[in-house]
Amino acid sequence: MSTKPPCRLCGHALEEFVSFGPQPTANAFLESSDFGSESFCRLAVGICGACAMVQLIDEVPNEQMFHKEYPFRTSGSAGARAHFEQTAQWLLDTKLADDQSFVIEIGANDGAMLGSVQKAGVRHLGIEPCGDLADICESKGIQVLSAYFDESTARRVAEEHGLADVIFSANTISHISYLDSVFRGAEALLKPDGLLIFEDPYWVDIVAKTSFDLIYDEHLYFFTAGSVRDAVARYGLTLVDVQRISLHGGEVRYIVAREGAHQPTAALSGLLEAERAARVTELATLERFAARVSERKTALVGLLQDVAAQGKRVAGYGATAKSTTVLNYCGIGPELVSFICDNTPGKQGRFTPGTHIPVRSPEAFADPYPDYALLFAWNHQQEVMANEQAFADAGGKWILYVPEVTVA
Ligand code: TYD
Repeated sequence: MSTKPPCRLCGHALEEFVSFGPQPTANAFLESSDFGSESFCRLAVGICGACAMVQLIDEVPNEQMFHKEYPFRTSGSAGARAHFEQTAQWLLDTKLADDQSFVIEIGANDGAMLGSVQKAGVRHLGIEPCGDLADICESKGIQVLSAYFDESTARRVAEEHGLADVIFSANTISHISYLDSVFRGAEALLKPDGLLIFEDPYWVDIVAKTSFDLIYDEHLYFFTAGSVRDAVARYGLTLVDVQRISLHGGEVRYIVAREGAHQPTAALSGLLEAERAARVTELATLERFAARVSERKTALVGLLQDVAAQGKRVAGYGATAKSTTVLNYCGIGPELVSFICDNTPGKQGRFTPGTHIPVRSPEAFADPYPDYALLFAWNHQQEVMANEQAFADAGGKWILYVPEVTVA
């Protein structure tokens, strides 16, 4: 008899509802000399039968994903740059107006958010375990501590820098296995009326769009307002507000305070009610999601095989972490997608994890244009299509696979 794995938060059994088979490390873009030494981990998602936290069944060690050469740069898209400048301005205007204000960012990446805080002269600290990213922050004049955030880092920061008005984090909290330590750390590091504010991909949007490629090793948890409310409540914290964000195909910003310090908003009760109505944590809904994932694979592979049979050339656009799940789950290699262009220097000249498709600079895209471009950076669709209008003008077609497989 097989035993079900336990929920990382409450220890109750997880119910697995979708699996993508063995997957390589999503952001481990390779040199050709690495081809023989890749490591794979089964990618499967389950839901806790008690606290309804959606999470990966198996996990890859932090150090294998987030290290000196971690290639993802927040500032790689104009959409993200604008979002984080606006976020910084919102924090500065509404939460950091005092001259004693202090903001911490967990997973500061390349300083897309803290850069604006630094320019405003407000006290801040970025916490960033990936060495190259911490160096980029420092080169921008941002105060940074190169560490993983957990309770002991939080206590050290509290001692050395004092308590924070805001602990902010984007696309990072859902990556951290030991959420108990993260929430205990936040509790230890916040001022009495301080706020923990984090934004991550929203499970409800993933189900609605069947954007299954947001499932990869770094995304260990898939939050809903309901699961975050219950998770933080175990640590003397309360979810008090939520904001919907359109970045990355749909995210939610969760605003968490100490118990009793702030009143819950109508936006929060509205989202909780919508989640109940959408039944996003019921097994029947999740099994239908899994069936749509499988249909999407059949449709995408079928389209790429038809195009290849016509002798047409397909390139990928955006060597995203998301593309690793699509390519490996669908079995798409260089015979169907000849190369992928990407503006991230650390990915160019390398090969995609598991499927070994070459990654080239954006200039290679027009040299000459392919017949079709498979848009892996679909979450930046508007920006990419506007920048590449000349491709469409030259007769090139985009292949999209979220929320359906289409040719545009
Ligand atoms: P993104 O979708 O933000 O995330 P993830 O890797 O987490 O799935 O990544 C977008 C990738 O696409 C990133 O590697 C930068 C690249 N990109 C371009 O090459 N050109 C562009 O115009 C844009 C917007 C992104």
